[in-house]
Amino acid sequence: MKKLFAAMIVACLPALAFASAEGVHLDKVDIDLTDKAAMQDGARTFANYCMGCHGAKFQRYERVADDIGVPHDVMLENIVFTGAKIGDHMQNSMRSEDAKAWFGAAPPDLTLVARVRGNDWLYTYLRSFYEDPARPMGVNNKVFHNVGMPNVLVGLQGRQYIGCKQVQVVEDGKKQYDPLTGTPITHEGCDELVVEPKTGELSEAEFDEKIKNLVTFLAYSANPVKLESQRIGTYVLLFLAFFFVFAYLLKREYWKDVH
Ligand code: HEC
Repeated sequence: MKKLFAAMIVACLPALAFASAEGVHLDKVDIDLTDKAAMQDGARTFANYCMGCHGAKFQRYERVADDIGVPHDVMLENIVFTGAKIGDHMQNSMRSEDAKAWFGAAPPDLTLVARVRGNDWLYTYLRSFYEDPARPMGVNNKVFHNVGMPNVLVGLQGRQYIGCKQVQVVEDGKKQYDPLTGTPITHEGCDELVVEPKTGELSEAEFDEKIKNLVTFLAYSANPVKLESQRIGTYVLLFLAFFFVFAYLLKREYWKDVH
C-alpha cells in the first residue's frame, strides 16, 4: 500500500511542477548577480513600491547595504522609510489580517519569492498587469489570474490593457525575420498586452530594465550567499587540484616497495 502511494506521488510530481505555469508564456530574463548598480536600483524600487505591503523579513538592511555596495547612511536615507534601524529586519508594518480584508489575500513575504516562483515568472508577472474593470482593484494579471495585488507600477509603465497589436511570428521557439530585409515578420494578435502610449513615466524598454533590476534584487535576496559560495567553491576546487599532486606523490612513495 505504501509503495503504491509513493508511486502515485512520484507520478504526480511533473504535473505539480507544471501546474503553476500551465499555458502561460514566460518571458526570459537574464540577470547578473554581480551587477551592483542593478541591485541598488532594484532595492530602491523595492523600498519605494513594494514595502508598503510586502516585507523581506529574513533580510537585514545592514546586510543588504553591505552586499550591494551602499554605505549605511545612504541606505538609511534612501531605502529605509519605516524609521527602522540599520540592523533591523526589512519588515513592513501592515497587519496581515488588515491586508487580507483589503486585498482578499495577505501580501506574502518576498525574501524567498525568487526561489519559489523563479526569475522568469517574477519578470513576466510584474509586467503583465492589465486593466480589468470586473476586478475589485480594476486590474488583473496574465500570469496570476484574479490576483489581489493592485498594479502599483502603473505610474511607471502606463496603462496596460488587452488589445490588438503586431507581434513577431515565432516558429519552433525561434523569432522569425524576413530573410531579405532582416526585419521581423509580424502578424496581428488580439489577446496581447498593449500599453497606452504616453501614460507612463518610462518607455517600454526602460520599464523592462527597471523590472529586470528589481528581479535581480529579489534573486539576490533569495540567495544572498550564492556569489560567496561560488567564490569559495572555486578556491576549494583549486585546493583539491593542488592537493591531488602531493597525495599522488605520497602514494607513490608508500607503494614503491610493495610489489
Ligand atoms: C498595495 C499593496 C501591494 C503592493 C504595494 C505590492 N503588492 Fe505584491 N501583492 C499584494 C497582494 C495583496 C498579493 C497577494 C495576491 C493574491 O494572492 O491574490 C501580492 C502578491 C505578490 C506576488 C505573488 C507572490 C506569490 O508567490 O504568490 C509577488 C511576486 C508580488 N506581490 C510582488 C510585488 C512587488 C515586486 C511589488 C513592488 C513593485 C509589490 N508586490 C507591491 C499587494 C501588494
